[in-house]
Amino acid sequence: MRGGGLLFLALALAFAACGVAGYGVHPLSRIAVHRARVALDESAAVRASPKLLGSRYQFANYSSGYAQSGKGTLKFQLINQRQDFSFGLFTGGLSNPTLVAVSNKIAFANPKAPVYPRLALGKTWNEAERDGSNEYQNFQPASLNTTDAVMRDLDNTDVVFHIGDISYANGYLSQWDQFTQQVEPITSRVPYMLASNSVSPMMAVGITSEISPNSGSFYNGTDSGGECGVPAATMYYVPTENRANYWYMADYGMFRFCVADSEQDWQEGTEQYSFIEHCLATVDRAKQPWLIFTAHRVLGYSSGFYYSFNGAFGEPMGRQILEPLWRRYRVDVAFYGHFHPYERTCPVHQEKCVQEGTVHVVVGGAGAYMSNFTTVAPPWSVYRDMDYGFGKLTASNEMTLQFEYRRSSDGQVYDSFTVHKDKKNV
Ligand SMILES: *[C@@H]1O[C@H](CO)[C@@H](O)[C@H](O)[C@H]1NC(C)=O
Ligand SMILES: *[C@@H]1O[C@H](CO)[C@@H](O)[C@H](O)[C@H]1NC(C)=O
Ligand SMILES: *[C@@H]1O[C@H](CO)[C@@H](O)[C@H](O)[C@H]1NC(C)=O
Ligand SMILES: *[C@@H]1O[C@H](CO)[C@@H](O)[C@H](O)[C@H]1NC(C)=O
Repeated sequence: MRGGGLLFLALALAFAACGVAGYGVHPLSRIAVHRARVALDESAAVRASPKLLGSRYQFANYSSGYAQSGKGTLKFQLINQRQDFSFGLFTGGLSNPTLVAVSNKIAFANPKAPVYPRLALGKTWNEAERDGSNEYQNFQPASLNTTDAVMRDLDNTDVVFHIGDISYANGYLSQWDQFTQQVEPITSRVPYMLASNSVSPMMAVGITSEISPNSGSFYNGTDSGGECGVPAATMYYVPTENRANYWYMADYGMFRFCVADSEQDWQEGTEQYSFIEHCLATVDRAKQPWLIFTAHRVLGYSSGFYYSFNGAFGEPMGRQILEPLWRRYRVDVAFYGHFHPYERTCPVHQEKCVQEGTVHVVVGGAGAYMSNFTTVAPPWSVYRDMDYGFGKLTASNEMTLQFEYRRSSDGQVYDSFTVHKDKKNV
């Protein structure tokens, strides 16, 4: 191989800019494909072997020692791919790609094996993907850290709730291939429970969606990229009574989880409001002493900058409508995502810390970029952390519930609290 500025890529596949957060931008648009030239050069060579296939590109200098020797090895991970492949070696960078060598062709052993869901192509460079190559959108830099940290503690984990956002595929189905593979070591061992989320909103088979405003979703937006939640709802099972409505209850050990769908209307008089009340009201606290409410968007409390407008500190109409229910049925802890940094409240009711109230926890930091908090924390906000992490909930018995917030980078506990109850009071 020749030195300097070479890049590898699979022929006619994904090109993209390097190191730039490409949120919402088609990666192919960054490369001057119209300028591409062929100038095969005998001094350059590239060889592909069956276990090292790529559908994307990496810069040659990604291989250690390349700068010194002009030789290197790059490794690509491929999922659900069925095409024959060759690799091209280019010089000239993204702006002036010149093909100097083409590798041998690799064919798959079983090219007719069914592909599920299917692979779409077109991604950006060098993000969370395990092989270090590019990824569409470049929006979830910590997702591998979080996956790994959860995996390391899997022996002490009975069930995982992933309350959205899920894959940030936004219509790029190859992201789902990556995501499902990434979490497979978890999903193959413990229940992996999803909640509705705004990127694959309305995961229940697209009854409503965020394809476009006025499409029937409670909040208006275009986040789903046309997926309408179909891939998520199809790939992961949750015990909804009606798959068109992504709300459900689940009893697990000493817990009852009431999982709301924040992408659908929950206001009084709606079907979802009735469900939430039914879920909270019917728990048998002798069997399930710990009552958990969860939803993707922050229906409770958040001092996230964009939630602070108008002093709402949460989704418009969320808390005002649901707080009486949390109070009446003594919800112990409520969890949300959507806002990425971590925040925990005191036991709170009507914006005041109280002796007996619900603790609200925002744990949206599994991977995607952070946003900021208000400068001054409201009085009910006990702990805020602008870093990536996840929560762990442990019920020791009917009187003691422990929560830990762990950072994804090191798996260590950075915040924790305990809920105590009298036995007579459970
Ligand atoms: C590798 O090459 C690319 C493109 O020339 C450059 O942007 C990048 O900084 C280089 N990386 C290293 C580690 O040298
Ligand atoms: C979404 O858009 C519709 C139509 O413009 C509007 O009636 C509705 O109030 C919007 N929903 C929210 C939550 O803003
Ligand atoms: C949060 O970030 C936004 C956008 O950069 C900025 O306008 C705002 O001032 C920041 N807020 C705080 C509290 O830092
Ligand atoms: C992932 O974890 C490593 C190791 O702790 C850390 O250096 C890195 O900053 C983490 N990445 C992100 C995006 O937080």
